[in-house]
Amino acid sequence: MTAASPPFPNAIPQGYEPLADEPVFDPARHLALEAPAKIWSLADFGYDDSVIAATPSPVAAAGPFRLMSNEGVSAVQAVCRALRDERCTEEGQRTSSYVAGAVYRSRFLRDLTNSPDVAAFLSDVAGTELAPHSLPSQQVYINFAPDDFSKAIDNWHIDSIGFDYVLMASDPTTFQGGKFQFFRGTLDHAASLLDTTPGLLTEGFLEELPQDLVETIDFPGAGYALFQQGHLVLHRASRLETQGERITLVPGFVTADVSKADPTKVERMAGWGEPGLLAELARHVAWRSRSKLELLAEDLPLNNDRTAIVAELKKATADIERLVTRLERDD
Ligand SMILES: [Fe+2]
Repeated sequence: MTAASPPFPNAIPQGYEPLADEPVFDPARHLALEAPAKIWSLADFGYDDSVIAATPSPVAAAGPFRLMSNEGVSAVQAVCRALRDERCTEEGQRTSSYVAGAVYRSRFLRDLTNSPDVAAFLSDVAGTELAPHSLPSQQVYINFAPDDFSKAIDNWHIDSIGFDYVLMASDPTTFQGGKFQFFRGTLDHAASLLDTTPGLLTEGFLEELPQDLVETIDFPGAGYALFQQGHLVLHRASRLETQGERITLVPGFVTADVSKADPTKVERMAGWGEPGLLAELARHVAWRSRSKLELLAEDLPLNNDRTAIVAELKKATADIERLVTRLERDD
């Protein structure tokens, strides 16, 4: 069951200042989409049939693949550098230095991450229909290396959204270290090695993992990317070994198949405090539930018994229910 994701909001949340002067995104000049060098399936990671059946894509990770032309890379770099002073640093075990809400700050990045060409390409790679994330603030992050380059760029973690890609926006030949790596194993396996639970893998872990289970992605140049089902793939960016400019873009995507459980960590995100995020979350759950309710309104079998009807209604409204429960907890 697929449903078109919500349109981009017609207003920008208070707190974001759009760039006054930036390139205009042109897919014909800025994109250079090429097939991934390699695809890892969820089965390759050791996930069992129950996990694979619960997600609309059998793909865990794919790449590297070229996504942007040289001209596109120059434009992305100009935008990222113009937004560099807006970055903030995550507190706690995660050490990432990032710019959030970049689609509200940059029309170029909004048009890049909402490009139908990119969504169609990634849908083809994933084997399921993907769309720019229904939470606009998650449609792209810009990640920078910390000012103190001896610190990790981002420790081992999983993402709070289902699908994303990591685009190397700066030239990877200009620095040492700063490698994108992922753990080729299940969340249960990762959690046991890190002495935690799968539900806490969003929080960032400094420990080293067995090298034979770690894949290191060598991006051939700026403009290359790695796609991942980030909520099922533990990943990190290792620390730089030399000072250098390392910039990555992380655009987020959502499955159009709303019949599957939502991998978006709605409860966690409700505590982030970014401008407009609570309303974005409300729109996200309204979209998912509306799509399921529309189907029920049209197709609920008339001979269903009471138990089946209650189960169907609860399933259709579960997304709203869990956000309301989370928001009321703060009152
Ligand atoms: Fe991540």
